[in-house]
Amino acid sequence: MAPRKIALSGNVRVIGGGALERRLAKKLVEEAMRRGYTLTKRALELLGSAEDPIKALDKAIKEVQERKRGSTVIDAADIEGVMVIPSPPRGVEATFEAAAEAPPEPEIEVDERFLNEYRIKGSIDEFNAYFRSRYEKSRRIFEERLVGLVDLRSVLKMRDGQEAYTVAMLFEKRDGERAIFIALDDPTAQATVIVPKNDKKLIEVAESVLPDSIIAVKVCKRGESLIAREILLPDIPTGLQEKWALGDFNVCLISDLHVGSKKFRDDLFEKFLDWINRSGDPEVRETRILIIAGDLIDGVGVYPNQHNELEIISLREQLEKLAGLVSEIPPHIKVAIVPGNHEPIQRALPQPPLSGEYRSILEKCGRELLFLGNPAWIRVGSRLLLVYHGQGLDDIIQSVPEISHSNLNERIGEAMEIMLRHRHLCPIYGESTPILPLAEDLLVIDKIPSILHVGHVHVAYAGAYRGIRVINAGTWQEQTSYQRSMGLNPTVGVAAIVNLKDLSVRLKQFM
Ligand SMILES: [Fe+2]
Repeated sequence: MAPRKIALSGNVRVIGGGALERRLAKKLVEEAMRRGYTLTKRALELLGSAEDPIKALDKAIKEVQERKRGSTVIDAADIEGVMVIPSPPRGVEATFEAAAEAPPEPEIEVDERFLNEYRIKGSIDEFNAYFRSRYEKSRRIFEERLVGLVDLRSVLKMRDGQEAYTVAMLFEKRDGERAIFIALDDPTAQATVIVPKNDKKLIEVAESVLPDSIIAVKVCKRGESLIAREILLPDIPTGLQEKWALGDFNVCLISDLHVGSKKFRDDLFEKFLDWINRSGDPEVRETRILIIAGDLIDGVGVYPNQHNELEIISLREQLEKLAGLVSEIPPHIKVAIVPGNHEPIQRALPQPPLSGEYRSILEKCGRELLFLGNPAWIRVGSRLLLVYHGQGLDDIIQSVPEISHSNLNERIGEAMEIMLRHRHLCPIYGESTPILPLAEDLLVIDKIPSILHVGHVHVAYAGAYRGIRVINAGTWQEQTSYQRSMGLNPTVGVAAIVNLKDLSVRLKQFM
C-alpha cells in the first residue's frame, strides 16, 4: 500500500449547533449558490456571527462582483471587508464548548491507488496480466499460512501416493454422480481434480467456492487421477484483530441516498440532519467522520425509463440538492464520498472519485469534501476501513442458491462474508459487474480491514466476521417498483455509528 496522507483542514468550530443555526447556514449556502457563488467554511462562520447574515452576504457578493470580477468564491476576507466582527460577549465560549472538548481530529490516510482514473485498451495482454495479478495476490495470502506450495505442473508430475498443496484458479466445476470435478488453472498448467462425494465436508467447501476464485487444494495422486483431500479459501485468518485501538471517536456510515428519486425520503434525511446537528448528543459529539458508500444521487439514464421515477430529472439539480444536504453536516464531521453505480462516472470497477463539473457542484456546499474511489481503503485514526459500494454482491446473490433478493434481510451478512472468505470484492468475473482488467487487481482484499462498509443492496446489517466489523448501511430510498418485483424489502433511513475504539456499532433508524 502506498498511502497518501490527505491534509484535511484544522479544527473547525461548530456554528452554534441548534436547528436555527443550521437552517441559517443552509440558507446562506443556498443563497450564495443561487447567485453563482461558493462560500468557504470560514466565510460561513463569519457570516454566522454577523448581525444580519443575509444582508452581509448580499453586500459581500456585490463587493466581489465589483472588485473581483470573474471570481465565484466568497472567502473570509470578502466577509470581513463588509462587516464588523463583534468580539464575543461573555458566555459565547460556552456555545462552542462541544467543539472545544472534542478530541483531536483523526488522521486520515487514503490509499492513492484507488484515486486514479484508469484507462485500458481491452487487449488480451491486459486480461492476462489482470488474472495473473489476481492469482499472485491471492497466492501471497496463502503463502502466509501454507508452506511447500507447488505449482500445477509439479502436481501433474507427482508420483503415485504423493500429496501436495497447490494454489490455482477454479475455472470450472462439473457435477458427476460420485464426485465433483474441479478444473484448475495456474500460470504453469491446467488440471482436473476429483472431489469425492463420500467426503461430505469437502463437498460442502467445493460447492461454496465461487467460479474464478483462487483456492488452495491439497491434492493426492492416485494412479493417473488427482484427488482433492482439502480445499481452502484464502479467507480471513483468526485471532489477528486487536480488539482495542487508540482514539475514542465514532464514524458514521450511510449509503444509497438516491437524491433525485421520487422515492428519496428527504423527510427521514432531515431527521438524520437534525440528529447529527444536536451537539448535546454525546454520540454525535464523538463522531468525526461521515462516510457515504455510493449512490448519493439517483442519476439520469441509469436504467431504462428511469425518468418516470425521478423527482429531479437533471443531474446538475440532483447534485445541487445533494450539496445543500451535505452543507448541513456539522463542520466538525469530515464528509467522505465514495461513488456507486448511480453516479455519473465510469461503471467498471475500480471506479475513480467523482470529478469535473459534477464534483465542482458538490464542492459548492461550502465545505471540504473527501472524494474517494470505489472501493476505497482509508485509515481513520488507527483503524483501516474498506469502503465499497457493493456491486459484486449482485453476482454473489445470482450465484449462491441459498441467497436471493427476497431473503436478503436475513442473509445479507452471509453474502458479505463470502467476499471476505474469497478475499475479493467481486469474486466472479464477467457477470453483471464490469471490472477493468488492470495490471494490478485492486479488488483483492489483500489487507485485513477493521471495518467493511458496504451499501448497494439497500438492506442494513451490522455483524462481525473474524474480528472485522461488517456493515451494510441500507438506504434512504423507499422501495422501488423494481425492488417490489424482486421481493426486496429495503431498510430505509439508517445510519451506522461505529466506535473506532472497540468497533461497537449502533444501527440508528430514522422514521
Ligand atoms: Fe443504490
